[in-house]
Parts: sequence; structure tokens; C-alpha cells
Amino acid sequence: TTNPEPQAPEPGQQQEAPPLRSAAWFGAGATGGKLRAFSHRSRMRQLGYLPEEHLGKPVIAILNTWSEINPCHMHLRERAEQVKRGVWQAGGFPLEFPVATLSETFQKPTPMLYRNLLAMEAEELLRSYPVDGAVLMGGCDKTVPALLMGAASADLPAIVVPAGPMLRGHYRGRPLGSGTDLWAYWDEYRAGRIGECELAEVECGLARSPGHCMTMGTASTMTAAAEALGMALPGASAIPAVDSAHHRMAAASGARVVGMVREQLTPSRVMTRAAFEDAVATVLSLGGSTNALIHLIAMAGRVGVALSLEDFDAIGSRVPVLADVRPVGRHLMEDFYYAGGLPALLAQLARVPGALHPERITVTGAEFATYYRDAPSHAEDASAPDRVIRTPQDPVAAEGGVAVLRGNLAPGGAVIKHLAADPKLLTHTGPAVVFDSYQDLQQRIDDPALAVTEDSVVVLRGAGPLGGPGMPEYGMLPIPAYLLERGVTDLVRISDARMSGTSYGTCVLHVAPESHTGGPLALVRDGDLVTLDVPGRRLHLDVDDAELERRRAAWQPPEPHHQRGYGALYAEHVQQADEGCDFDFLARPGRNPAPDPQ
Ligand code: FES
Ligand code: MG
Repeated sequence: TTNPEPQAPEPGQQQEAPPLRSAAWFGAGATGGKLRAFSHRSRMRQLGYLPEEHLGKPVIAILNTWSEINPCHMHLRERAEQVKRGVWQAGGFPLEFPVATLSETFQKPTPMLYRNLLAMEAEELLRSYPVDGAVLMGGCDKTVPALLMGAASADLPAIVVPAGPMLRGHYRGRPLGSGTDLWAYWDEYRAGRIGECELAEVECGLARSPGHCMTMGTASTMTAAAEALGMALPGASAIPAVDSAHHRMAAASGARVVGMVREQLTPSRVMTRAAFEDAVATVLSLGGSTNALIHLIAMAGRVGVALSLEDFDAIGSRVPVLADVRPVGRHLMEDFYYAGGLPALLAQLARVPGALHPERITVTGAEFATYYRDAPSHAEDASAPDRVIRTPQDPVAAEGGVAVLRGNLAPGGAVIKHLAADPKLLTHTGPAVVFDSYQDLQQRIDDPALAVTEDSVVVLRGAGPLGGPGMPEYGMLPIPAYLLERGVTDLVRISDARMSGTSYGTCVLHVAPESHTGGPLALVRDGDLVTLDVPGRRLHLDVDDAELERRRAAWQPPEPHHQRGYGALYAEHVQQADEGCDFDFLARPGRNPAPDPQ
């Protein structure tokens, strides 16, 4: 790692507080500085603040992804008031900065196209304004990675306030989960087993409070990753969005970041190689979303930590799945919270030798072990009826559920969540049935003339970072209706797309390099034999090299999707999935000059 492990300050030890970055804008004292300091102070008076309210105090930027279009964050505007309360109590001065919202539900073609835009916005706001520290408010899938990427590059003291999961869904006494039950009840409706009244009830019951998806989708996975990195307070991530504990956590986070400014506890000191290894272990023990591989690699890149797909595979082989939460397990995030939340899970994970690094520093200033050492847990109570968090002796699965594949079809790697796949397909050779785009797939997949069989390997290309564009969550390719009718429930499916954290099946994802840039996926033809070998970690196209060369020479690159604007910038700079899909100019090392506010 490039980041030396710092020591937490001894409790009670008086630290010489460093000069505030914001003092360069306002001058030291009530009349200090030059003309610009005078100007900035006069504008603070215009904002309605007394000199003694802000001068000499750490300015805390609250980067808030609240928006009226984002149901997962609809409580964050009000929750920012609780953050401010904490900042004031600790002697800081809070200012709220609205930043772009990335709504997994509403933003098209996918908010993944805009993750790096929010990361840039967060970084540049922190860089260009009088800010000493930051509170990062997000939760819906891409928001937490984006905010952490930006804060890491700005490298000002920062703490995450996770949005928290929504309450369990409800329908006629039955719990409903985000994602999975949406598809399930839509199918019930299409099959005529429920009518419009029932469907309307499900529509109102699926998502019934503020907060992000309450399954172990990407949001729950990445907020847990933020906590495991040590970038959020212990226990913060699983608190339901509407629980009063969420208000208290927000206030405590606001108070804590003021101390972090005094200690200069920056993201680069917290987000070390050891922290990322623990975040990977945590994500895998949660049975978390495959999207975490992309986000964590991108986040690590921002602090100069080399994190590779192989790290996920290696850590996954020694870490059991301990969270019995959908889609891998049975329960929902509200149940996980009542069972002790992430601290209870970490306490079990810590019993696996070498799984965690207990001594590294966190935003609390104390070592990571304090996140779970005294965590109350019901995991050991074998008589508890709903054991949401398991022990390493009695796990949901013995190994983390993600495998990394390589071979001539994926020289840059591919990913499979094999825990969610049919075991008998994990070693399989079959003829390819190829679709050039998602539209092509939708038009032709149910056509009986394609004669897809249970041995077929369904291939979707043109769905990667450039091809999608934005690498949409198309990876759970549909099974043809005529096979479903015959009781076929899984097929080997391969794509350069991502997959929703709530999806399942033998789906090989994130194939790199993608087809749009001429990766081998672009060269597959109908009928080519493809071998998936998960135990051997191999993805092989059974076509000889000379033939592949001929096909490559004849290959025509597709037209770019965007001719101008942000989409064109994205296409010119986005990296492949195995590199985290960051922009090349954001991922590279180097420092920018601090602005001179005078
Ligand atoms: Fe926001 Fe699922 S839609 S987390
Ligand atoms: Mg999702």
C-alpha cells in the first residue's frame, strides 16, 4: 500500500489543531487577510451569519444527494438538519451543498453512466469552496461510491451518512423485498393468478417508506462497504432510514467530522489496502452485489491502492457467507438491523482467522476492532427462529459467492456470482446463441426458430461500459418462454453487462474487454462452443487462434453512441470493468494545485 498506517490519537492527548483551510478564504480573526477576505466575510454577512458563528470554525460541507425524484433519499433533506445539529454542537459550521442525485429507479439509461460525474462534482466542490471537512449523504446504488471517490481525491476529512434501507415491504401479511418481488408479482399478474386490485396493493406495499432497497442489493452492499472501510460510524449502515436511531447517527456523524478536521483524519489515512481487503471480505460475507467489484476497485484507485479482481476471488475463498438476507438468503435489511446489523456480522467474521484487520484506523479515530468487539449478537442463539446473522461454523455458504474467470473470451476477466447459480451449470460446454444488443435480445429471445436448448450458452454483447453505454444491468438475460414452459430455470448466460444485486442465475458478467472495443466477445458466432469452468476459473471460446484473427481483421467498430457532451467525454475516458470504470484522467495519480482564495 502507498498509505502508511497512522496511529489514532491517544484519548485526552491534546493535539495542536492545524490551521483551517477555510481561513484562506475568510482571513484569520475578524479583520484579517486582504481585500478578498473582506469580500468573503461581507458575503457571509449577506448569508445572514454573524462573524462569531463561523470564523475560526471548521466549515463542514454536507454533500446531499437529496432530490424530489429520488425516493431512496427523500428523507435526506430533513436528515441534513440532524447532521447540522451535530456539527454545531462540536463547534463546527455546517453548509449544505446539493449535489447530483443518482436514482437507480428513474435515471436512464443507467445511473452508472453518471457515477463519475457525481464523483467529479463532489471532488471539485470540496476543492473550490471554503471547506474543511465533508459529510457525504447517499445510499442509492452509485451514490456512495461516487461520493467516496470524489472525497478520496479531494482528500479532505470526510464521513459517510448512509441513507439507510427502507422498511420491509408488505402485502396481505407477507413481507415483500425490493427487486425480486417486483418481478415475482408481475409474473403472477401476467399469468392471471392475481388481478388488478391485488397488483395495486403490491404497488403500494413494495416500497412503503423512505430509504434505499432493503434487500442486499448494491445500495445495502455499498453502504456496508463504506462502514467496513471505516468511513462511516460503527453500525451506521443498516439503520432503517426512518428509525430514530438514524437521526441520532446523523447527528453523531456531524459531530465527529469536526473532530476529524482537527485531527486531519483524511480519507487517504482511512482507505488503506487493509481497509479495502476488509471491505471486500465484508461484501462477500454479506452475499453482496457483484457491482461492488467495480465500485471498490474504482474507489481504491482514487487512493492509490491496487485492488484487483483476483483479490476478490482470493478473499472470497476464505470468507463464509454469514448474512441470511435476500437475494442469497431469506430476510430483509430491517431483520438484519434487528439481529445486530453490520457490527454483529463483523463480530462473527472476525472469528475467521485473517479475515479482518482489527488495528487499522477509522473515522472514529479508533481502530477498526471497536466497530465489532462488543457488538451484541444473536448469532450464537441457536434457538432463535430467524437467524439472520450466522456463525462461521453454521454459515449460509462456506465460501463467498463470487468467482473471477479468465480465458480467451475474457482476457481482462469476468465475474460470476456462482452462489446464485445452478451448481450443475458451473462446469458446462455448449453452443453459443449470440445477441448483438439488448434490443436484439428482446426482439428475438422468444422466437422458437432460435432453438435455444438447456445446453445453449446465451451471449449478449454491446452492453459494456461503452457499448451499453454505462454498462446497464442487463446481465440476467431472460430465459426463452418455451424453455420456461418446459421447466428450464437456468442457462449459462454471458455478457459484458452488469447485473442487479437482486438478480440470480448462471450469469457470467463484466466480460473485459467488452465487445464495443473489439474484445473477444465481439468475435463469437452462433454455434461456437463456449466452455464455462467455474472450479477452474476459466471462460473459453473453442475457436482456434487463426480463425479468431481472421474474424478480428474483419471486425468493424460500432459507431459511438454520443457525438457530443458528457456522453462523449464518458466514451473517450471510461475504463473497462476490471479497472473499475473510472475515467482515466480521474484514476491516475497526481496532485492538483490548491486554489488561492486571495
Ligand atoms: Fe435506490 Fe434500489 S432504487 S437503492
Ligand atoms: Mg440495483
